[in-house]
Amino acid sequence: PEATKAKIVHLAPLRSKRVRVRGWVHRLRDQKGIMFIVLRDGTGYLQCVLSGVVAKTYEALTLTIESTVELTGTLQSVPEGKTAPGGHELTVDYWKVLGAAPGAEDAFTNRLNEKSDPSILADLRHLVIRGETASTVLRLRAAMLSAFRDSYAAHSLTEVTPPCMVQTQVEGGATLFKFDYYGQPAFLTQSSQLYLETCLPALGDVFCVQESFRAENSHTRRHLSEYTHLEAELGFIDFNDLMTHIEAIICETVDRLLVNESTAALIKQLNPSFKAPSRPFLRLSYVDAIKWLNEHNILHPKEDAEGNEVKDAEGKAIMVEHEVGDDIAEAAERQMTDIIGTPVFLYGFPAELKAFYMKKMKSPEGVDSKHVFTESCDLLMPGVGEIVGGSMRISDSDELIAAYKREGIDPSPYYWYTDQRKYGTCEHGGYGLGVERLLAWLANRYTVRECSLYPRWPGRATP
Ligand code: 4AD
Ligand code: MG
Repeated sequence: PEATKAKIVHLAPLRSKRVRVRGWVHRLRDQKGIMFIVLRDGTGYLQCVLSGVVAKTYEALTLTIESTVELTGTLQSVPEGKTAPGGHELTVDYWKVLGAAPGAEDAFTNRLNEKSDPSILADLRHLVIRGETASTVLRLRAAMLSAFRDSYAAHSLTEVTPPCMVQTQVEGGATLFKFDYYGQPAFLTQSSQLYLETCLPALGDVFCVQESFRAENSHTRRHLSEYTHLEAELGFIDFNDLMTHIEAIICETVDRLLVNESTAALIKQLNPSFKAPSRPFLRLSYVDAIKWLNEHNILHPKEDAEGNEVKDAEGKAIMVEHEVGDDIAEAAERQMTDIIGTPVFLYGFPAELKAFYMKKMKSPEGVDSKHVFTESCDLLMPGVGEIVGGSMRISDSDELIAAYKREGIDPSPYYWYTDQRKYGTCEHGGYGLGVERLLAWLANRYTVRECSLYPRWPGRATP
């Protein structure tokens, strides 16, 4: 009888029928003349059995893992007491090799296993992604982005696609990738925030999913040179609304993933002990966080005026308490988040630690008035640290011009951003979320490098 061509994920209604599937040999086992193939087609895995004459051809005897094959046969329920993906297996009666792979003897692929050197795994990322764990992470990433889009739609935000090639900075000149744009200097964008702000009067609340670029020489497990940035901007809100919105979007997105059986299974596979966080998230002011760090004896290396670590006579870094005005370093931030063990909003950072566009906050009572604080917040997650950075924005034109001046920024290339305050301003705020960092938290990955298709970090731009 005629065979029905199908993807593995769609096989269930075709039990006891003749089907034809195409894919890659994921696993291969020869047991006393019977060959078992686990076939992978990107939609799922299928156990296939080749016996008798079909398992005795030259092609069968030389079949290798990762070869592409076409298998035709009858789809059968697995016998009682046995398990197979989907609960069925294919009894193959006709098959052909579409593209042979070199197999285990191949000098290239045989360097690839879990214990391989990280630089080999990075060189062979195009083959690593065929693996069960790597492909599950990428599949969860796709589901997560789609769930985010659904959450934004439910909150009436419109998606826009801002440019990657820009001539203004957002998060400081030190981390800009510069390039020549038809003879003019230009940069790869660090954040689409300024463009999102200009969309408010046109489209109302907006969001984007766009690549951001940071020339940071940081070899940490949470820094990439290119990352996917989910950013949103909301008009006519206050600082409290902003944090409540961030919380809602993240929790609703996680809930969407958990109520869907197939995405819940991906999370379970990667992060079996995952529990959805409860709302509201803890809110800790920057000033209280400094106190908290000192109370928990979490110190930081003393620095001289040039920012170099000060060493003692034995060459060890001298550790000192945090003071208001200090940047909370990644290590301290991570220790704090891990001890607290739940998502934490750190808010109200000193202006000198933050970008030019942030709205100033009235100084909290009893705090040294030499600092000006901002309506800014970072959302920290256990195991990862900062995953979101957001703030209210300066909505007054004169105040914004003063802020450019204080930061030494030439306001002329920003005329379009300043105009946002000139042609009908409004109180507004927004945030950026690092997609790879959120995924590292959700999927319990050690590094954001596992959460990007082809991660970029200093020295690495291939494959
Ligand atoms: O805190 P950041 O720098 O904030 C902004 O860019 C704002 N303009 C966003 C906005 O308000 N629209 O970056 C936001 C988030 C961080 O919290 C982090 O999750 C992620 O982007 N991020 C990185 N992720 C991976 N690698 C890097 N080098 C990252 N730098 C920032
Ligand atoms: Mg930040």
